[in-house]
Amino acid sequence: MNILVIGSGGREHAISWKLAQSSKLSNLFIAPGNAGTEEVGKNVELVVSDFDGIAKFSVENDVNMIVVGPEVPLVEGIHDYFTEKEELKHIHIIGPKKLGAQLEGSKKFSKEFMQRHDIPTAKYKAFTAETLEDGFAFLETLNPPFVLKADGLAAGKGVVIPDNLEDAKKELTEMLANSKFGAASQEVVIEEFLDGIELSVFVLTDGENYKLLPTAKDYKRIGEGDKGLNTGGMGAVSPVPFATQEFLDKVEKQIVKPSVDGLKKDNIDYVGFLFIGLMNVGGNPYVIEYNVRMGDPETEVVIPRIESDLVEVFEAVGNKTLNEIEFKVTDETVCTVMAVSGGYPETYEKLKAIEGIESVKDSVVFHAGTKKLDGKIVTNGGRVLAVSSFGVNKKEALEKSYASLNKICFEKIYFRKDIGFDLD
Ligand code: AMP
Ligand code: GLY
Repeated sequence: MNILVIGSGGREHAISWKLAQSSKLSNLFIAPGNAGTEEVGKNVELVVSDFDGIAKFSVENDVNMIVVGPEVPLVEGIHDYFTEKEELKHIHIIGPKKLGAQLEGSKKFSKEFMQRHDIPTAKYKAFTAETLEDGFAFLETLNPPFVLKADGLAAGKGVVIPDNLEDAKKELTEMLANSKFGAASQEVVIEEFLDGIELSVFVLTDGENYKLLPTAKDYKRIGEGDKGLNTGGMGAVSPVPFATQEFLDKVEKQIVKPSVDGLKKDNIDYVGFLFIGLMNVGGNPYVIEYNVRMGDPETEVVIPRIESDLVEVFEAVGNKTLNEIEFKVTDETVCTVMAVSGGYPETYEKLKAIEGIESVKDSVVFHAGTKKLDGKIVTNGGRVLAVSSFGVNKKEALEKSYASLNKICFEKIYFRKDIGFDLD
């Protein structure tokens, strides 16, 4: 089996690391990859939206399967591109087609989907520049804080939560009338604020059957105590202690099944990951958002807990036989702590030499923003390394990650020292 993984972050390194452990794998390619993926496969210099380039490479290298990491190529239709061409359609794509990817690509689409299939979510309405005044009126019916979401993809920045009505109206005007998020905010979803604690549930589906993956909680803010600016994610823990079997049974019955069945009813041919962002409100799950890919850094804690052969699992997704395989997950806890460049998520410098990764023995160091420069590993992004560790519990796993991080250095390294703080 020759597999091409698309993407270049910690998520793609974790997926590649796991695929590389399979005896069924012949060649693993990662486009474009990073300095970490290069250790488990072969990096290919292709950008994730260059479908022609990816297709040409796949044919020339006899690629049998493509695992798509990030949402952008999915929303742009990489799966459709491959199915529509005779010479490419035998290649299994792990990731939904363009229509299914709208669950992440359009907040309005995903809210309508949830409404249609009775999936618990916050009450909402959608507005455009023409209906700005109606938006103001709707805001007046809600209690603060107010949740405003740009409809389209906005690189994780499209959600704003003002805590008073005046700011909410200003923000809505900025988004709709002044194109704050460009085309992504031509339409804005306003929704009720859900007060609770967040977690993520991951589903892998072949369109007919599904497997529930381990739960995870990520820490999105840059500062300790969940303060400061939003980031891509500063660390994660799996499993989530408050996600009891009783809670997960509700999630499966009220959310996962209706979501997979809803896709079928709507004739949306969906294969790949479905990442469900949930709010636990007094013991009941509500969907905050769908993503059509794995989370990052959640992947760096979810994937290591999977004991099954990931190549076999993906093959079953491609063949629509996910119901026939056993899916095994370890009971151990995995935590990851993200080391970032000083200044992130605002401006930061790149190309800082990274020292000490080879001396880490008790953790797995997944590379996020790194590359090789003159044979040395250097920083190449805001989020640089995700240091993941196993433990009998969260405390033991985190201790290992922090001990490992003490062996790693680069100029202006920063990481949160309180990952998992709210989970005791
Ligand atoms: P999203 O991009 O939809 O995941 O939203 C980003 C973040 O905003 C989420 O991770 C939540 O922390 C928060 N959020 C989104 N929707 C709501 C809501 N209805 N109530 C409370 N918090 C929300
Ligand atoms: N860590 C959140 C995400 O990947 O969207």
